[in-house]
Amino acid sequence: MKLNIAVLPGDGIGPEVTAQAVKVLKAVAMEFNHVFTFNYGLIGASAIEKSGSPLPEETISICEKADAILFGAIGKTSYDLDPNAKVRPEQGLLGLRKTLDLYANIRPIIAYEDLLNKSSLKKNQIKDTNILIYRELTSGIYFGEKKLSADGNKASDICEYTREEIERIAHLAFKAAQARKRKLTLVDKANVLESSRLWRRVVLELEPQYPNVKTDYMYIDNAAMELIINPKQFDVILTENMFGDILSEEASVIVGSIGLLASASLGKDHAMFEPIHGAYTKATNKGIANPIASILSAAMLLDHFGLDDEASLVRQGVDKSLKLHITTPDLNTKYDNISTTKVGDFIEDFIHNPDETNLN
Ligand code: IPM
Repeated sequence: MKLNIAVLPGDGIGPEVTAQAVKVLKAVAMEFNHVFTFNYGLIGASAIEKSGSPLPEETISICEKADAILFGAIGKTSYDLDPNAKVRPEQGLLGLRKTLDLYANIRPIIAYEDLLNKSSLKKNQIKDTNILIYRELTSGIYFGEKKLSADGNKASDICEYTREEIERIAHLAFKAAQARKRKLTLVDKANVLESSRLWRRVVLELEPQYPNVKTDYMYIDNAAMELIINPKQFDVILTENMFGDILSEEASVIVGSIGLLASASLGKDHAMFEPIHGAYTKATNKGIANPIASILSAAMLLDHFGLDDEASLVRQGVDKSLKLHITTPDLNTKYDNISTTKVGDFIEDFIHNPDETNLN
């Protein structure tokens, strides 16, 4: 298969972790006779520094022409500390999601057997957790009108949703549930928010179209607690943009490190694959960033094109690296010198020689 992949390494640890995912994709292309081409674009703080814009036109054009996009990370501490900054790195990612209409962000939360003791939660509580979060990605409070009064003392962000925006992701989430344990939980705040009541109304209306899916409704505050107390009760979680952002980051506690969580952001015409972690600026170029979220995002890219054997091999490589403790310091307790690149090298070698790869 020929794939034109846009690569947007972005900021902070983004370039380091993305380089490992690209390495793994190149190994897959070689072993399975595919032709993957990689075209790089600027985004975020690094794009502001070079071009003045967090999302240069050229980057949009590279992404529009690509079959898939591999994204790294975005953000820089200097902007975080300046609430008056007019241009922000995050506008690059948000702008790209909106421009390409990447409305469905899919975030798998899987508790790895070998990492159960890395979580601060009890082993028997998290063992066998396997959740798929469907986070709406192009609307809600992130994209509603933003206002700051002239005297700077009053600010607002509007949370708006249309029926169509809810329906399209709800259908995807219902279908995903049908192919899994057939349970869908809508997470909202319908006791307080009008936009949440629309979510609830729409999902209630769609329910009869998916009679084999059991649908639950849960308030976000309760879901935040239930996710920690009893994560195994969830199969597919469907939720709006900001709740999904927060809930998925909370879910990383189950898995043991946010450095393991991958995602796919899908629209009708485009697909982007991105780790859920941020730029982690203070770890930049120290070789301590976990590349697995990026590598697993590459596996989701392969899934997207039906390259099941390829994706499965990448996941086996990840599993083996975890089993052998070939992991960065966020997870490692056994060896203290396993770098970002070393994890990438191991998984790359595994793709070439699945039966023989060991730590060297
Ligand atoms: C994520 C990130 C982004 C978000 C930021 C960087 C804008 O936290 O992908 O989860 O909030 O969506």
